[in-house]
Amino acid sequence: MDAALPDKDIDGTLFLINRQNAVSELYVPPVREVVANGMNQSMRDDAATALEEMFEAAKEDGVRLSVVSGYRSYSKQATIYQRKVATTGSEEKADELVARAGTSEHQLGLAMDVSKNGSSSLTERFAETEEGQWVYQNAHRFGFIVRYLEGYEEITGYSYEPWHVRYVGREHAAAIYASQEPMETYMTDYKLQVYDFLIHQDTNEVLP
Ligand code: DAL
Ligand code: ZN
Repeated sequence: MDAALPDKDIDGTLFLINRQNAVSELYVPPVREVVANGMNQSMRDDAATALEEMFEAAKEDGVRLSVVSGYRSYSKQATIYQRKVATTGSEEKADELVARAGTSEHQLGLAMDVSKNGSSSLTERFAETEEGQWVYQNAHRFGFIVRYLEGYEEITGYSYEPWHVRYVGREHAAAIYASQEPMETYMTDYKLQVYDFLIHQDTNEVLP
């Protein structure tokens, strides 16, 4: 019955993590270092391979991206959150910007923050740059979505982050990109499809 709960399959690519769905302090995915321009950061192998392909494709289009921040342990998330509370002056403001420990996609090893070559700054201005535009338009071809879209803060719980990409696999990324909906909404619809499939399943059919 696990197949009916893709958003709860922590080893899958559709595990939904957000303010409402946290993971344990003990959850540590298998990760490896990403071989791409920028900082030394890690991701899960499937996501790392896809990110490397994405960076190569960008380069072929004359767009140089830079790795900034990938896998984050539970304790690293706790440190980043506390720092954000200190710099913004309140938990309320910090909550719009960074996840509390155990609720970040970065703990899954499936998220990466990217920037333009030579920069490690993560700001909304990235969306207006050639690099940010390229990421927005092409990330889905490699299995990534820009996870925190503008205008969906109420649903995702976070401010617009044009630099944060989340690996979900190519088919789902293409569907999410086409729908222009955040992952939360997509997962609700996709789960209904999975349930429907299980109820009416023909033994030869497979779901993506
Ligand atoms: N900035 C995103 C929400 C995170 O901390 O995972
Ligand atoms: Zn991020």
